[in-house]
Amino acid sequence: MKKIAIFASGNGSNAEAIVKYFDGREDIKVEIVLSNRSNAAIHERMGKLGIPSVTFQKEQWNESTTIVELLKEKSIDLIVLAGFLAIIQPAIIKEYTGRIINIHPSLLPRHGGAGMWGMHVHKAVIDAQETESGITIHHVNEAVDGGAIISQHRCEVMASDTPEVLAERVHELEYYHYPRVIESILLQS
Ligand code: GAR
Repeated sequence: MKKIAIFASGNGSNAEAIVKYFDGREDIKVEIVLSNRSNAAIHERMGKLGIPSVTFQKEQWNESTTIVELLKEKSIDLIVLAGFLAIIQPAIIKEYTGRIINIHPSLLPRHGGAGMWGMHVHKAVIDAQETESGITIHHVNEAVDGGAIISQHRCEVMASDTPEVLAERVHELEYYHYPRVIESILLQS
């Protein structure tokens, strides 16, 4: 059994799509969700799905020893960032080199980097009058949104789009592709 740990800070809709995709499988499962926000909606979502979710304090994320120990104790094969807004510390990157992936809601390198997350990204895409946007699934290294790209998936941006409308279209791409990319990585490892 290959085991996934999801790191998330917010709403958790991607985490939910991933959990549901692997529900009932005997080869891949979401083992645990780790968060840096105790009040994030993801905890309620995971509670309903029967997936344990744990909150760590800022200091614990910063030094990361307890987190690495937990990941090792749970025999985690892949760390999946899904709307995780804290920086991944070098200790975690060192232990899980090549086994941490992220999803970003634009076509990197456009509209990535520090401060670019969630609705800020969609607003920047619209402000730049892009005609297409999409998602980037990439490896995580120490540069924010700088790891090697695994795959990108595109959608149209309409002239009438608000950031909220574009976010919905991009979310649909995320829910479809992220679980499948995770599956393909784990089946090849
Ligand atoms: C997703 O759209 C994800 O791509 C984005 O945050 C959203 C989380 O939604 N991540 C970033 O912007 C990272 N830079 P969710 O909590 O409902 O899955």
